[in-house]
Amino acid sequence: MDQKNVLIEREGNLLIVTIARPDALNALNRRTMTELHALFVDNPVDESVQGVIITGAGTKAFIAGADIKEFVGMPAQDAAALSAYGQDIFNAIENYPVPVIAAINGFALGGGLELAMACHIRLASDNARFGQPEVNLGTIPGYGGTQRLIRLVGHGRAMHWLLTGDMIDAGTALQAGLVTGVYSQQDLLPEAQKLLAKIASKGPLAIKEIFNCARAYHDPEIDGFALESDRFGWLFETADFAEGVNAFLAKRPPSFTGK
Ligand code: COA
Repeated sequence: MDQKNVLIEREGNLLIVTIARPDALNALNRRTMTELHALFVDNPVDESVQGVIITGAGTKAFIAGADIKEFVGMPAQDAAALSAYGQDIFNAIENYPVPVIAAINGFALGGGLELAMACHIRLASDNARFGQPEVNLGTIPGYGGTQRLIRLVGHGRAMHWLLTGDMIDAGTALQAGLVTGVYSQQDLLPEAQKLLAKIASKGPLAIKEIFNCARAYHDPEIDGFALESDRFGWLFETADFAEGVNAFLAKRPPSFTGK
């Protein structure tokens, strides 16, 4: 499908995905959700892509939430279906096989914060504001916010912010561990790119196994400790591990081949 609201640019081995409805502060309307679904759920991951950055168009908002105008008169059944559709997209982002960074360049509210929380790493600009303001509208987060906010910042802080709908600033988000870096608007994207380049320089098999073990943490059917031991052992017989250890001992940078 035509990507009108979700712009995809390729920069080397990275994808930069920009949510682009600046007149509505990049609010996630149906079309934008369909385009995100096409990108993250429907299309196979291009194996040459080593990382993804998601950001918002303009300097005011990352994403100011779901498009409230589309809520008017929506029947319960359609709203529940919309929630499930959004959860599928955000789960696909969380399960994306390469690192996805949210470069939060302004308001990250409602579905915007929920999308950011589905990413593997969150960086923010110093003007960013975060919140789950759904209670102000008489509803609740529907794209995973009640679950992921608790996971990320703990029950106490999450309940405070979910129950009040309060907005927090970038400094508070940093302190709470909701983001791991705060930069000027201008430095945000370059810093996200630098971070992905750094990850891409590590042993690719090790990176893949970090993803597998981290996913196991959230899957009650998998014993994460057992998986970790298994994968730790498996990596010992890879060429990359031999290279990593030899390079360390020889005091030179490693040259990984992904084997
Ligand atoms: N859905 C639809 N349109 C939205 C939107 C949303 N979530 N958030 C902002 N917009 C639109 C506004 O309606 C306005 O459009 P208009 O110019 O046609 O009236 C435009 O974006 C600019 O927003 P505005 O409210 O004028 O900017 P502001 O700087 O005064 O306030 C916010 C910014 C983010 C505080 C405010 O827009 C807001 O509270 N948005 C809703 C956030 C929200 O509740 N999100 C969760 C939804 S479930």
